[in-house]
Amino acid sequence: MELANMISVPMSLNAIVRLNVPDAIWEGGSNTPLSAAQIVARVQPSGDPENLQRILRMLTSYGVFQEHLTHSERKYSLTEIGKTLVTDADGLSYGPYVLQHHQDALMGAWPLVHEAVVDPTCEPFVKANGEPAYGYYGKRPEMNGLMQKAMSGVSVPFVTALLDGYDGFGGVQRLVDVGGSAGDCLRMILRKHPHVREGINFDLPEVVAKAPQIPRVTHVGGNMFESIPAADAIFMKWILTTWTDDEVKLIMENCYKALPVGGKMIVCEPVLPEKTDESHRTRALLEGDIFVMTIYRAKGKHRTEEEYRQLGHSAGFPHIQAFYIDYVFTILEFRK
Ligand SMILES: C[S@@+](CC[C@H](N)C(=O)[O-])C[C@H]1O[C@@H](n2cnc3c(N)ncnc32)[C@H](O)[C@@H]1O
Repeated sequence: MELANMISVPMSLNAIVRLNVPDAIWEGGSNTPLSAAQIVARVQPSGDPENLQRILRMLTSYGVFQEHLTHSERKYSLTEIGKTLVTDADGLSYGPYVLQHHQDALMGAWPLVHEAVVDPTCEPFVKANGEPAYGYYGKRPEMNGLMQKAMSGVSVPFVTALLDGYDGFGGVQRLVDVGGSAGDCLRMILRKHPHVREGINFDLPEVVAKAPQIPRVTHVGGNMFESIPAADAIFMKWILTTWTDDEVKLIMENCYKALPVGGKMIVCEPVLPEKTDESHRTRALLEGDIFVMTIYRAKGKHRTEEEYRQLGHSAGFPHIQAFYIDYVFTILEFRK
């Protein structure tokens, strides 16, 4: 029954982000437990407190809120998971990622997951919407904007962990971020490493057209399947997952051509464990794998370290080293 009713979980999470509930409870850091009536008064004064409480209770059972039960009144504060949905000083959080995943166009693909088995040549998203996801976002500025905000909201905490736990940028003067979206990763890497003189944020032309100006960063529009700007090192986060093995090989070959001998391709991707288990981490990675299959590429996938090693070898990279410094993303350093 838990599995059969599971859709209530992501849709309720989407609802509380839409209603700005996390920001209302957080209120500048107070995180004071509030009743549903108090939250409704802050976010939607004409709203229904009882229905909000039903959502808060259910999400409490998934660790998003903590329930404080006093004299038969229920109050809710944010857990560490709930806090990831609070908007920070730069306007970022995991909230836009939740909203991005539950837009109508993406939701329309989910009843068609079985089609990825029946016909793996065409993504469920394409069956539902008539064209691939990135092209679809590109024609719709509001979707493109939400996608960029979603990527920034998830990337910033990860890059903070990366800059603390990985020091692979020594000696790099020119760094390209392939598929860098709004350029947040480069902004943070360049701020920490002043010796990197130039960052190239390389993404689709319609994406870089909306990217903000960042000191020492040049935005370059293009197609990674054709060519990638030359650099001492290449950074690539959350790119390879959404493509097939043949496409990944092509992207890696273009990276290889863009690098000098000894140059690094620094890849950050969700990397699957060899053995399946029931941990939250493994579940999150396997659920993301089905998301990729449904929305982006029926044969795009989350891969194991060994699968990445094989793909790197096939593109010409003789060396690969893995750094497990984050819960979701693994750093895979390929050296030419
Ligand atoms: C999942 S997002 C990752 C964004 C960013 N690296 C991050 O982690 O926040 C994938 C990115 O790849 C870009 N992309 C898709 N196809 C591309 C192509 N053919 N050439 C260059 N970039 C592309 C998308 O526009 C998007 O910004």
